Amino acid sequence: MQNQITFTAQDEMYMARAIELAKKGRFTTTPNPNVGCVLVKDNHVIGEGFHQLAGQGHAEVNALAVAGENAKGATAYVTLEPCSHYGRTPPCAEGLKAAGVVKVIAAMVDTNPQVAGKGLKILSDAGIEVAFGLLEQQARALNLGFFKRMEHGLPYVTCKMAASIDGKTALKNGQSKWITGSAARQDVQLHRAQSCAILTGADTVITDDAKLNVRLSELPQALPTELPLRQPVRVIIDSQNRLTPELAVFNIESEIIIFTTKVDKSTQWPHFVRHIEVPQQNNKVNLTSVLAHLAKLQFNHVYLEAGATLAGKMTELNLIDEYIFYLAPKLMGCDAKSLVNFAPLTDMQNTVNLTFKECVKIGDDLRITATKHIPIT
Ligand SMILES: NC(=O)c1ccc[n+]([C@@H]2O[C@H](COP(=O)([O-])OP(=O)(O)OC[C@H]3O[C@@H](n4cnc5c(N)ncnc54)[C@H](OP(=O)(O)O)[C@@H]3O)[C@@H](O)[C@H]2O)c1
Repeated sequence: MQNQITFTAQDEMYMARAIELAKKGRFTTTPNPNVGCVLVKDNHVIGEGFHQLAGQGHAEVNALAVAGENAKGATAYVTLEPCSHYGRTPPCAEGLKAAGVVKVIAAMVDTNPQVAGKGLKILSDAGIEVAFGLLEQQARALNLGFFKRMEHGLPYVTCKMAASIDGKTALKNGQSKWITGSAARQDVQLHRAQSCAILTGADTVITDDAKLNVRLSELPQALPTELPLRQPVRVIIDSQNRLTPELAVFNIESEIIIFTTKVDKSTQWPHFVRHIEVPQQNNKVNLTSVLAHLAKLQFNHVYLEAGATLAGKMTELNLIDEYIFYLAPKLMGCDAKSLVNFAPLTDMQNTVNLTFKECVKIGDDLRITATKHIPIT
């Protein structure tokens, strides 16, 4: 698709505002993407909106509702191509057309195969001026999980790990509470709240008796939403059915999915727990199948909070998109447990290479965000 418009500084300002609006939906829109929309006429904003909840109004519909009749002759700035299909709500492209909007600037074309240019075509066929590609990178960053699912049939996986500055996650005797400070742990709560699922291994659940839920009282800030707190689904890898219903994770009434190689029907589980059988390799669940299954269930963004074994295996299988390391200013020594376990390397050519994206101080700790390093060819 060709784009022939040169964007102005004003265009950029309104799209930046639409991106800010879209961010307001980041705790609630799943499985839908975060989208913001600004309607402008005669250099005045006449309507703004963002998508808040699947099944409710899309960003464009909410902005049009604010503008009313005044939308006729306006320009719409949208962070994602307006939809073209009937889902739980009617197509936004038709709504913009009916409202008499004369120009639509989308930050990016939607890679959802149901849309993929069709929304922009509806608009241009109706004689509406259409452009796309303004602040595309920022717009894409709003929905890394949604686009990964649409483009690859897998969720975007963020692996969170807390460690000492010498890269250790627990003492040899298993003690690990608390390596990082309370500010870092609050930050983890904020990341959990934005995820569709928290993924972990049976060992972490058994060893730590972890609950893996979002705790309102531990969030560092009030969430920018009127809606009740959404709990991400807790997903546990338990190939050999080692979990038991007495563990603390099962005391919290909120959805849990356990992936296993064979469902054990002899145990009584709470009503919010379900087991899913997936193919196995050497008596362990196939982790790629687990992620593909989560994508089919419409999970966009998975937050992996596991120990060195699962994090290492997923690293080896190239299933992690992003790492968030919280590093405490502590040294734990060489017999403490490592950050990730994978097959020993004998050649520096084979190291897993990452690119640092961000480094910030959170309380007394550092938060380092890194992605897989993609060499320039
Ligand atoms: N510092 C941190 O950020 C952090 C975060 C979480 C946990 N932890 C610590 O980590 C410790 C536990 O770590 P851990 O390494 O023992 O366990 P883990 O990584 O939490 O869990 C291992 C899980 O991976 C599964 N698994 C292992 N190999 C596999 C393979 N090849 N394919 C598929 N699944 C495989 C295991 O087997 P099964 O499927 O057979 O059960 C198990 O469910 C705890 O002490 C906890 O405190 C630290």
